[in-house]
Amino acid sequence: MPDYISIKKKNISLIGLMGSGKSMIGKHLAKEFGMKFYDSDVEIEKITKKSINLIFEEYGEPYFREIESKVCLNLLNEKNCIISLGGGAILDKKIRNKIKSDSYCIYLKVKIDELIQRLKKTTRRPLLKNVNIKSKIDTLYKNRKIYYNKANLIIENNGNKNETLDIIKKKLIFR
Ligand code: S3P
Repeated sequence: MPDYISIKKKNISLIGLMGSGKSMIGKHLAKEFGMKFYDSDVEIEKITKKSINLIFEEYGEPYFREIESKVCLNLLNEKNCIISLGGGAILDKKIRNKIKSDSYCIYLKVKIDELIQRLKKTTRRPLLKNVNIKSKIDTLYKNRKIYYNKANLIIENNGNKNETLDIIKKKLIFR
């Protein structure tokens, strides 16, 4: 476990657009550091016993955001966990404040073209259903970058996941 976490008892949160690799990187970091891993979407699906797609379809986005808010605030109340937050979680001011107070936040930044490649076949992202993926991602990025850029650490994750992991580990351990 990195020193600073054992001292401050903080979580590590991962933020970024859909497809930026938060869950994959988070799981690896958790394994490496012997910490628990949580993914806010997975927790939402467990609690509601419904898929994210179905929640959007049956109840709409505002209802999803309400549950997301509760789930993310609860997860951030934990200690020494790695938490992958859904791409839109940072739109909620309470979540943003909690990220700041209770976690060391890492933004995984990925080029838009790369994100489009990664997301063009996704069926798990209700916001990307029946839309032009490029213009949707452009809009989401435009509206969210101000919040993503407030992270404690910004790491590019355009290609090699092992490189990304190495950079994060070095930053965390030697900071
Ligand atoms: C969303 C991102 C998704 C999920 C939901 C909405 C968003 O999570 O929470 O589909 O608003 O960007 P991932 O970022 O883990 O894909």
